[in-house]
Amino acid sequence: MVSRAVVQGVGHYLPERVVPNSHFETFLDTSDEWIRTRSGIERRHFAAEGETTSELAAHAARKALANAGMEIGEIDAIIVATSTADLTFPSAATMVQAELGMTRGFAFDVQAVCAGFIFALANANALIVSGQAETVMVIGAETFSRIMDWTDRSTCVLFGDGAGALILKADTGAGTPADRGVLSTDLHSDGRYRELLYVDGGVSTQTTGHLRMQGNQVFRHAVEKLASTAATALDKAGLSAADLDWIVPHQANIRIIQGTAKKMGLPMDKVVVTVQDHGNTSAASIPMALSVGVERGEIKTGDLLVTEAIGGGLAWGAVVLRW
Ligand code: UT7
Repeated sequence: MVSRAVVQGVGHYLPERVVPNSHFETFLDTSDEWIRTRSGIERRHFAAEGETTSELAAHAARKALANAGMEIGEIDAIIVATSTADLTFPSAATMVQAELGMTRGFAFDVQAVCAGFIFALANANALIVSGQAETVMVIGAETFSRIMDWTDRSTCVLFGDGAGALILKADTGAGTPADRGVLSTDLHSDGRYRELLYVDGGVSTQTTGHLRMQGNQVFRHAVEKLASTAATALDKAGLSAADLDWIVPHQANIRIIQGTAKKMGLPMDKVVVTVQDHGNTSAASIPMALSVGVERGEIKTGDLLVTEAIGGGLAWGAVVLRW
């Protein structure tokens, strides 16, 4: 028998304000047509003035608790994946902890940009299988609208705000790929590529900065690295792409999502797609896609999923789990 981190519940929260592509036509040399065809994005949500990442995260956390039928007192640890925390410190996770009234256990942030949720999920799994925590809430939450350069049409039309949360709990499995829970993880980063996607500010420069991206360069790395990390994670679990019920990819660009599925030899009807409605929400995109996938009735108990992401760093990885 082996210890497995098994999904108990999932939830997501989107800020009220929906921003259609046509919004950008009013102040940039761009079009709804360009944004749709080059990225697949039709709309995104932006946080209201003063609305923070930890607030979005706390809303998603409450929904995940309700979905799991659990109380906050049953959670041992909260991990928030974010690159847009409210303050330099303390962590967004401790703010969520306080907001939810959790006074025991521990909470911390993980920063791996768009791959943040994958890194946080791998950490949560490690905490559970090593016995350091029994129940972990993993949240991806971002307010990327705060770091956009609204004069840069090549980036500001792509990103959105939101949060998603997933609750994992220790259970025992037979140690086979038929077990529910996280079956394998595969993480990578390569800091040589940092100039492809970064924010040109930060604490030690005493500025917040704006997101800068060489989109077509990131694109080139994305399909190859995502298909490769997904294949490695499946191999580690003793599985292959043909065994999958769903790919739940990071939602950056429909062309990357399609290219990765094709490289993995899977049709698009096995892919959960939310990019048209959410845009790229960085670390929030995968938990929101998981939550939407469950809401739509796509993801069901017992389904085999691979989830994968790549972003600034570059940092990338994949997790195989049985829902
Ligand atoms: O989540 C983290 C990881 N990030 C990603 O995965 C993003 C990866 N990259 C992408 O999704 C795509 O590269 C983009 C959607 C960012 C861009 O698509 P692309 O097909 O790679 O276009 P491009 O950057 O090569 O630009 C093509 C043209 C350029 O014009 P010229 O030089 O060909 O005349 C751009 O100036 O499109 C132009 N362009 C725009 N035109 C209208 C760039 N942005 C816009 C825009 N509206 N918003």
